[in-house]
Amino acid sequence: MSNFAISAQHLARSFGETHALVDVSLDIPAGSVCALLGRNGAGKTTTVRILTTLLDPDDGHAQVAGFDIASQADRVRERIGVTGQTATMDELLTGHENLEIIGRFSHLGAAVSRQRADELLQQFDLVDAGRMLVKKYSGGMRRRLDLAASLIANPEVLFLDEPTTGLDPVARSEMWVAIRNLVARGTTVLLTTQYLDEADQLADTIVVVDRGLVVAEGTPEQLKASIGRPSVVVTLVDADPAALLKVRTALGADAVIRGRSVSAPAADGLESLAKVVTLLEELGVPIHEVGLEHPSLDEVFSAVTHRIGDHSPVAPAEIPA
Ligand SMILES: Nc1ncnc2c1ncn2[C@@H]1O[C@H](COP(=O)(O)OP(=O)(O)O)[C@@H](O)[C@H]1O
Ligand SMILES: [Mg+2]
Repeated sequence: MSNFAISAQHLARSFGETHALVDVSLDIPAGSVCALLGRNGAGKTTTVRILTTLLDPDDGHAQVAGFDIASQADRVRERIGVTGQTATMDELLTGHENLEIIGRFSHLGAAVSRQRADELLQQFDLVDAGRMLVKKYSGGMRRRLDLAASLIANPEVLFLDEPTTGLDPVARSEMWVAIRNLVARGTTVLLTTQYLDEADQLADTIVVVDRGLVVAEGTPEQLKASIGRPSVVVTLVDADPAALLKVRTALGADAVIRGRSVSAPAADGLESLAKVVTLLEELGVPIHEVGLEHPSLDEVFSAVTHRIGDHSPVAPAEIPA
């Protein structure tokens, strides 16, 4: 058995004329968090549905928790938890009752189901809410209850499809804490998100999908490094035009002035920074601060998704060999 909790090779899936997935491959090490990042319609939910055995791929293979999604679907289902984009709780039951029922459906037996419900309500800060009807829950409480529900049977691998979409910032950061706690317990997580900061915050690796294709992947740091080179940014004590021009000239043809700062590409990172510091000492201009700036994940994302052109549907002829 490989040590990947999720491994997918060349998944493809169409719905009529829509090529939802063209070619998606993933390798997610056990115990890590992978963010599948992409805008609406990129193919995230389709990937999750295939990996959780809810949908068959037209092409490709995948193994989840060591079992094949096609020939060993039951084995896979026993080992995974899923939180979908839409909640599935019974509004007219309490949170505790919902969790207990899900436990019973998972063949845990009455006593164990009750005990798991208690534990999970505690873990997700829903002890009081557990006695309330779900219809009275806030959006954030519902998402945390969904998350709790997906953990009833102690899954090895957890799929979270846009776990924080639509939540306010406070509820969102509560979800982040909940997800981090899970990971600390060793659960492998595949989460989908449209939010770069979320991927950056939670994920060990990020796979960027666009129009059913993987367009970039790596650690948040690798992604940033592969797209944009860092810049060195020199900030002066004040916006003295003569001094700014002097610095810009010293930093070379690609340097630009922004406010009281001058930035220039720093292809060699720290080495470039050291050179600039030496240059500045010679210039004798009053400097407030000098540093390296890395591109944000937002910049990375627009760079990779623009690279492959417009957003019309991918024709099969464009599929890379
Ligand atoms: N059951 C379906 N029938 C028809 N089209 C679908 C179906 N599911 C997804 N699609 C289409 O496939 C593409 C990818 O969808 P999806 O995987 O849900 O994207 P995401 O989750 O990234 O927003 C979209 O164009 C969507 O409209
Ligand atoms: Mg989706």
